[in-house]
Amino acid sequence: MNKIIAANWKMNNDFSDIKPFVKFIKKNQKIKDGLVVCVPSVMIKTFSDAAKGVVKTGAENCHFAESGAFTGEVSAKMIKNAGASYSIIGHSERRQLFNETNEMLNKKLKACLNVGLNVIFCVGEKLEEKTKYKSVLKKQILEGFDGITDFSNIVIAYEPVWAIGTGEVATTQDISKVHGFIKKLCEEIYNVDVKVLYGGSVKPANSAEILALAEVDGVLIGGASLKAEDYVAIAQSR
Ligand code: PGA
Repeated sequence: MNKIIAANWKMNNDFSDIKPFVKFIKKNQKIKDGLVVCVPSVMIKTFSDAAKGVVKTGAENCHFAESGAFTGEVSAKMIKNAGASYSIIGHSERRQLFNETNEMLNKKLKACLNVGLNVIFCVGEKLEEKTKYKSVLKKQILEGFDGITDFSNIVIAYEPVWAIGTGEVATTQDISKVHGFIKKLCEEIYNVDVKVLYGGSVKPANSAEILALAEVDGVLIGGASLKAEDYVAIAQSR
């Protein structure tokens, strides 16, 4: 299986971007495997209809409840029924801007797994936490995965918060070191060989060296995933 090339459109791009994006990827058949594009929930249906057999579709978030009085929210089941097979959970923007706690994220993770969605679970330290990254990541992992025994539908995305949208990328040595730490921790605690993606200012110019690292099982791309040309170039650098 190829390394995973996951896109996170965030609150960018629009319906009119979907067809040209998918068409460009289709033209590059070679890169098909391991592709996931996470889009705003309102676009999931249109994206997944257009992208069937080419790219998997993902959501960027979901609510933890099955249903209920949660105005403005969408459930994991709705996301799945709209055509998504993945959801990002715990992105640092959700943690910071929407006050999502590890406890809440644990419930969201379980809600996704319950309906058969794959989850890209994000962890990462802030700039001021850089020296104590081990304890920060350990807490996010222990609390986020509380009660989880089956990791077959989970991949972790390590995204140092200081590297997201800043143009600043962790060094390859740091990426190897932190991914190694996460993998070892998950092996010790859960007895699993978990896949870890790297995210934070990944672009065509740096993706080859990041994807070449043994500890890196793929990438999660924000800004550079908005244009199909960049997304394809990153996928081709595997
Ligand atoms: P970036 O975002 O590639 O724009 O840094 C990554 C992310 O937020 O997942």
